[in-house]
Amino acid sequence: MKTLPHLFANNRNWSSQITQGDPTFFQKLVQQQSPEYLWIGCSDSRVPANEIVGLLPGELFVHRNVANLIVPSDMNCLSVIQYAVDILKVKHIIVCGHYGCGGVRAAMEKHPQGSIANWLDHIREIYDRRQDELFSIPDEARRMDRLCEMNVAEQLMNAGRSTTVQEAWKRGQPLCLHGWIYGISDGLLKDLCVSVSSDGALRELVGS
Ligand code: CO
Repeated sequence: MKTLPHLFANNRNWSSQITQGDPTFFQKLVQQQSPEYLWIGCSDSRVPANEIVGLLPGELFVHRNVANLIVPSDMNCLSVIQYAVDILKVKHIIVCGHYGCGGVRAAMEKHPQGSIANWLDHIREIYDRRQDELFSIPDEARRMDRLCEMNVAEQLMNAGRSTTVQEAWKRGQPLCLHGWIYGISDGLLKDLCVSVSSDGALRELVGS
């Protein structure tokens, strides 16, 4: 018995649309992938990585988790970064958060229960550490937006401190880290202007 038939129907349509434009598209992808970008974003279903930036299969290496965290003890995320940088030689790592992130909201409002609580503690720590700035923002929605932005910059710094990125910079491999945020309400990306492409630039960002 076939399950979820509508998804298979969608899949056949999608595949045939692509091959109508380029009959050898998938055959070429079988040979190799050579994406220039690693995307680290939120699992939120409203933030589909490839679609947002108009990239096709083969063009974006993707890692997503709740609230786009880069946790130094998370072997999953660190392995993705290592594979992307050392093997695929991506030139850019994009850390992309989004406004209205449920993970950020949960961390800000109260401690949730279960596994997610441990995960979101990483955001709670940012919230606690940067209370002065956050509580200077009177509007609660704006304060949450600001925490979403802060979270992107913090995760970008975690990526920059990772052994993989540090080693790549040491050997002179071109690699730029970018922090972006996506607006669910308008479908638009905003550059948070925290890009770094060297350890010196990272140190300046951490110190700022
Ligand atoms: Co989210």
